[in-house]
Amino acid sequence: MIEATEAIELEKESISLERVPTKIYKDAAEASKAVAQEIAKIIRRKNASGKPAVLGLATGSTPKKVYAELIRLHKVEGLSFENVITFNLDEYYPMQPDAVQSYHRFMKEQLFDHVNIAPENCHIPTGTLPLEKLAIFCKEYEAQIEELGGLDIQILGIGRNGHIGFNEPGSLVNSKTRLMTLDITTRMDAAGDFGTLVKVPRRAVTMGVKAIMEAKRVVLLAFGEHKAQVIKEAIEGTVSEKIPASYLQGHQNVRFILDEASASELSSRKKPWLFDEVIWNKMMVKKAVTNLALSLDKPILKLTNRDYNENGLSDLLANYGQAYDINLQVFQSLQHTITGWPGGKSLASDANRPERAFPAQKRVLIFSPHPDDDIISMGGTFQRLVDQGHDVHVAYQTSGNIAVADDEALRFIDFLDDFNTAFDIENKKYNTVFEEARAFLSKKKDSEIDIPAVRYVKGIIRQGEAKATCRFVGIPSSNVHFLNMPFYETGAIQKMPLGEADIKIVSNIIAEIKPHQIFAAGDLADPHGTHKVCLDAIFESLERLKKEEYMNDCWVWLYRGAWAEWDIHEIEMAVPMSPTQVLQKRHGIFKHQSQKDGVVFQGNDSREFWQRAEDRNSATADLYNKLGFAEYAAIEAFVRYHF
Ligand code: F6R
Repeated sequence: MIEATEAIELEKESISLERVPTKIYKDAAEASKAVAQEIAKIIRRKNASGKPAVLGLATGSTPKKVYAELIRLHKVEGLSFENVITFNLDEYYPMQPDAVQSYHRFMKEQLFDHVNIAPENCHIPTGTLPLEKLAIFCKEYEAQIEELGGLDIQILGIGRNGHIGFNEPGSLVNSKTRLMTLDITTRMDAAGDFGTLVKVPRRAVTMGVKAIMEAKRVVLLAFGEHKAQVIKEAIEGTVSEKIPASYLQGHQNVRFILDEASASELSSRKKPWLFDEVIWNKMMVKKAVTNLALSLDKPILKLTNRDYNENGLSDLLANYGQAYDINLQVFQSLQHTITGWPGGKSLASDANRPERAFPAQKRVLIFSPHPDDDIISMGGTFQRLVDQGHDVHVAYQTSGNIAVADDEALRFIDFLDDFNTAFDIENKKYNTVFEEARAFLSKKKDSEIDIPAVRYVKGIIRQGEAKATCRFVGIPSSNVHFLNMPFYETGAIQKMPLGEADIKIVSNIIAEIKPHQIFAAGDLADPHGTHKVCLDAIFESLERLKKEEYMNDCWVWLYRGAWAEWDIHEIEMAVPMSPTQVLQKRHGIFKHQSQKDGVVFQGNDSREFWQRAEDRNSATADLYNKLGFAEYAAIEAFVRYHF
């Protein structure tokens, strides 16, 4: 039976394809605060009635901010966990509770160690019991929940394959708490935490779908564009064991909590005009027309009144009168995004160009979050800016040191050793740093955090690669800046929050160069990654510096990181590349040798970075071509940021 709790909120009735109540927040931080508030309400309500609150908890990157907010509520607002009993969804098997990747350790670090919860009230599936004892353990785990009257709320994340808990595709709706073999997508997504795929356990103990479905309230959180596709399938698709999260469509009191990025594939976001009245501003018209053209596989200028009417766009037609006029407006606006002069063309009118013609020679500052994002994401544009005579600077925001393999570090230490021996170079400081690094690496355990000496070696390896790229593109070494932002320097995937020192470093370089153009990695959607933190530092710096006179003449262009591209209707500058330029960019990317041939954080994409970049740039060119524009080999795309 569903308990009528304060947590149950009435959803606004709206016509949509969504089969689960869904709430979309501006970002993960806002969404997480709302979820923490809901949990706090349940804790207080249960406490008031003299009963313990029984919480079902999840791990992974998604709920971290919820836990941080709960800790804040405990410390600042006195929320007590004395009467709270928790049951976690899962644990890898086998897994020692103190291992870096253990969910036992995760929960202690992210929540339990910071609130007044009794250790005996915290339940997490075992990672250590022998196989033959697991069945009993799982049965008892479920029995304990039942004895307490069931879970008051279950918090869930969602895997890119649709798993909830570790109920992988194929899990049945009545599946029990059990040992589960992990899906390859799950293992690839976890590879970052374990260093490499082969070290990711093949199995895990997970609460079954049945126990999740029996929770009185279920809240599933999903943040980031990498979750957008599976969220669409779980919310709008048919219920199927292929996407276990789709079972939640049958739960009586569930809600999906999303940020804009994870909601971006929902039909209500992709084609809002089908569900509600929309304001037909330029952006919305562009979105509708490009969408129509691509879904009908027709170039824009061939779209007819009938196409508009038959595809839910009669309202737009009514506003404009004729398809011909709308087509032309959108076509021209897209045409004006295409330019081979990303720094502006001084010998031509700039009335219909994305960049100003003057000053003819611009000071350009490219921010690169990692040492290779500049060349991977905008290598063609970087080269053109240099070739067209602009004064181009690159600021590498972080050292990127955790992405260098141990073996690579040892190779460089050996090189230095041989070099120094050959030339009788004796240097005490050198000896200490490199010997320390070598000694550590030769005994390093799996996933052990590198000591500073090793991080230093790895950092200078990446610096050298970035310098090589800049030399290759043709900028002087005085224009290459390594910012080594401190938030990044933990030696682990988990970074520190953005601090004042980081913002100062970024502000200082802007103030020093006084750029006419800034290029930054605009991964607005990435909820916890380095790119987002690096971008936040730039946005904050722009805010602080905006009153400076030189900032009046500074335009900011955002490029996307290695993973995704802007939607076609968002693009404001499209820089085409010839096959030769594509090849040149590839050679620029090759300078990053430590990132070739299987990198430390391969993630779920087995392609190398140059392949990803080329696929993405040719896909953008292909889209333009499909819409009726000239056929280019590749295109790099940018969106302007107004501060
Ligand atoms: C974690 C769990 C998993 C994760 C899911 C998403 O306890 O059961 O289902 O919620 O894999 O992981 P993140 O949040 O890291 O994307």
